[in-house]
Amino acid sequence: MTTKSLDAPHDIRDLALADEGRRRTEWAERSMPVLRQIRARFAAERPLAGRRIACCLHVTTETANLMITLRAAGAEVALCASNPLSTQDDVAAHLVRDHGVHVYAIKGEDHETYYTHIAQALAFGPDLTQDDGADLVGSLHMIKLGRLDDLSGPVRAMVEEMSAEEREALVAGVRGSTEETTTGVIRLKAMAVEGVLQFPVIAVNDSRTKHMFDNRYGTGQSTLDGIIRATNMLVAGSTIVVAGYGWCGRGLAMRARGAGARVIVTEVEPVAALEARMDGFDVMPMAEAAPLGDLFCTLTGNLHVIRPEHFRAMKDGAIVCNSGHFNVELDIAGLEVLASDKREVRRFIDEYVVEGRRVLVLAEGRLINLAAAEGHPASVMDMSFANQALAAEYLIAHEATLERAVHRLPPEVDQEIARLKLAAMGVGIDTLTDEQVTYLASWDAGT
Ligand SMILES: NC(=O)c1ccc[n+]([C@@H]2O[C@H](COP(=O)([O-])OP(=O)(O)OC[C@H]3O[C@@H](n4cnc5c(N)ncnc54)[C@H](O)[C@@H]3O)[C@@H](O)[C@H]2O)c1
Repeated sequence: MTTKSLDAPHDIRDLALADEGRRRTEWAERSMPVLRQIRARFAAERPLAGRRIACCLHVTTETANLMITLRAAGAEVALCASNPLSTQDDVAAHLVRDHGVHVYAIKGEDHETYYTHIAQALAFGPDLTQDDGADLVGSLHMIKLGRLDDLSGPVRAMVEEMSAEEREALVAGVRGSTEETTTGVIRLKAMAVEGVLQFPVIAVNDSRTKHMFDNRYGTGQSTLDGIIRATNMLVAGSTIVVAGYGWCGRGLAMRARGAGARVIVTEVEPVAALEARMDGFDVMPMAEAAPLGDLFCTLTGNLHVIRPEHFRAMKDGAIVCNSGHFNVELDIAGLEVLASDKREVRRFIDEYVVEGRRVLVLAEGRLINLAAAEGHPASVMDMSFANQALAAEYLIAHEATLERAVHRLPPEVDQEIARLKLAAMGVGIDTLTDEQVTYLASWDAGT
């Protein structure tokens, strides 16, 4: 059965994939009870009626459920990918055909196409943007500041066609933005510090119901899943080096240990390193870990965490991948210079020969959980995207008063999302008695 085709403007792989995309999106929806409840309320209240939202997110079944929720709230929506490898083409087709979302995303798109799609999302003329890595907001700010040389080719070409008034109107039209990930929030906070931020932003990543669950449990499980799907390696008995012991690193270290690996953590921040040691992991510099690891995974949000000197020290057959946001954590350019040979030995695996030893790089150093697996489970994205949906509503409801700064959603929103999730899981909790409320608010009770 097919539903009526809404057939919005698009650039996707193949509209004929829509049925499969719909089946899989509905499967994800079963594990997204919080977003479902928000969608039902949005459909009744239409808090985003007539608003235009441009989203730059991983085009997955979970994102599809967020897009459908924004549509239920009355918004017009355009969607492009936040990573060239993470798009699920069937999902893109479903959103175009069945929900009238303007989708510009194709799995494996080249650099030029990726930025052409970002330009198309910007050309949509949004009132709000939703980013995962700040690519839309970054481009809007380059336009505002006249830094056209810093724009990628296709975005620059679009902007050069526009008059000064049109450029000004494009940026001024944006009432606010939401940001999904740690890396994007770091960029936005840098814009705020420089005093150039043009509109208020909600750092969805900073909600407790986002980073404590999505980054830790979602990334932990899906990163290991991506590694296993790409390599079919046996985790038990292997030595896995986890670079970065933030929310994502903790999640992977925990899951790798659970699957029987010896886990080594590398860090640059003393408190995080100490925590890793206290959690029972070996902690050492990357230079010492390099000859020991069977598999290395970076989750730092930082640049060139694994460099040529580390690749040179690795044992034959060492596997290297990244699950941080950008493909900059592995110095692939440095590895290319070092290697005497390179060939693809299996889907998602490039083998480099370094001084006679083989180093295997997964998914070109891009997010392994999205490239080789399906990203986070729907159940965890339920909370992240509940935050996204409520952040869009919050921005519109407070557009007249919110400062141009990076904001968190109020703690009550976090608590409401956790309450809905617990209810969906059938988990009850206690409530404070009146006596406890008074006790906690007083200072005069002693021993
Ligand atoms: N794969 C995914 O699906 C996914 C999901 C959420 C976030 N992310 C991304 O993962 C990255 C990490 O996110 P997070 O929430 O864990 O951030 P975080 O800030 O909680 O943790 C990052 C950790 O890396 C450490 N670090 C920085 N440079 C390092 C270096 N050179 N060597 C070793 N450690 C170093 C920091 O000290 C910090 O403890 C970000 O890029 C984020 O956007 C990916």
